[in-house]
Amino acid sequence: MQSFIQSLPKAELHLHIEGTLEPELMFQLAHRNGIPLPYPSVEALRAAYDFDDLQSFLDLYYQGADVLRTEQDFYDLTWAYLQRCAEQNVVHVEIFFDPQTHTDRGIEFEVVLNGIHRALEAGRTKLGISSFLILCFLRHLSEESAFATLQQALPHKDKIIGIGLDSSELGHPPAKFERVFAEARNAGFELVAHAGEEGPPEYIWEALQRLKVARIDHGVRCQEDPELVLELEQRQTPLTVCPLSNLKLKVIDRMEDHNLLWLLEQGLLVTINADDPAYFGGYLLENYVACVEALDLSKEQVRQLAANGFKASFLSETDKARWLTVVATSL
Ligand code: ADE
Ligand code: ZN
Repeated sequence: MQSFIQSLPKAELHLHIEGTLEPELMFQLAHRNGIPLPYPSVEALRAAYDFDDLQSFLDLYYQGADVLRTEQDFYDLTWAYLQRCAEQNVVHVEIFFDPQTHTDRGIEFEVVLNGIHRALEAGRTKLGISSFLILCFLRHLSEESAFATLQQALPHKDKIIGIGLDSSELGHPPAKFERVFAEARNAGFELVAHAGEEGPPEYIWEALQRLKVARIDHGVRCQEDPELVLELEQRQTPLTVCPLSNLKLKVIDRMEDHNLLWLLEQGLLVTINADDPAYFGGYLLENYVACVEALDLSKEQVRQLAANGFKASFLSETDKARWLTVVATSL
């Protein structure tokens, strides 16, 4: 089964590039930039990755991102992730970045964007990995800050396919960003939003009806509202589910309790993703393996999940069809 998962071409649709910052690279960049870290070693840092909930993770995640200062830092971060993708036969990625995390500490928007973009171009030419970039607004910040960030993105529409919404979910419902999402939609961006990770089903309804998103990131709490499950099934709105993330952030207690298979059986367009792999103990392959082991998924269910990754992507219909044929014929 592991070699079957390895050999399947896979797409990743829910990945925060800042969440791929491995402790080793964090120490390297801290040293290069002359930044002291509050941990004596890589091991001590890794040992601190023991989270109670989303917020306890976010506190460390934003602190870790402080070592990212130069365009080269963002290039190195993204290139390291793409090399992992190549090893795991991840052939298409749609990755998030959080510009406000960086611009709020004085890093230029273009430093962040150009470093990531240059690495994605190298991934395309040197590794054959196709990619799109999605800018996420931090939902714990104001609507005004999101509008200012959208303004910074407009001259770079050729490099950014979509707009998303992440960070602390509880207390920051999607409706807070209805107007800025409307402006992003008018500017021609694709739209996605985190909803129903820790937040209630109502947040998923809001993301669908008020933000008009094409995909829901996480969405696992939809199960609490049968009408919502039906709506997601009828619309075939993709859910970008992140199993190891849900386990590490205590959305579930045990992987055996994950509702991924239940959602798949309801006919929802469920995909498997890594979220913040450096913090949650696994990249895309490890997420698939964890689900197979805990939920006893069949080979055909794994194939379905891999196919869903391409169906739910922003690739052209031609590119989707090409990958779906490879997935369908993988042995
Ligand atoms: N930012 C990075 N990872 C996140 C997650 N799982 N939920 C919300 N915001 C995030
Ligand atoms: Zn996420």
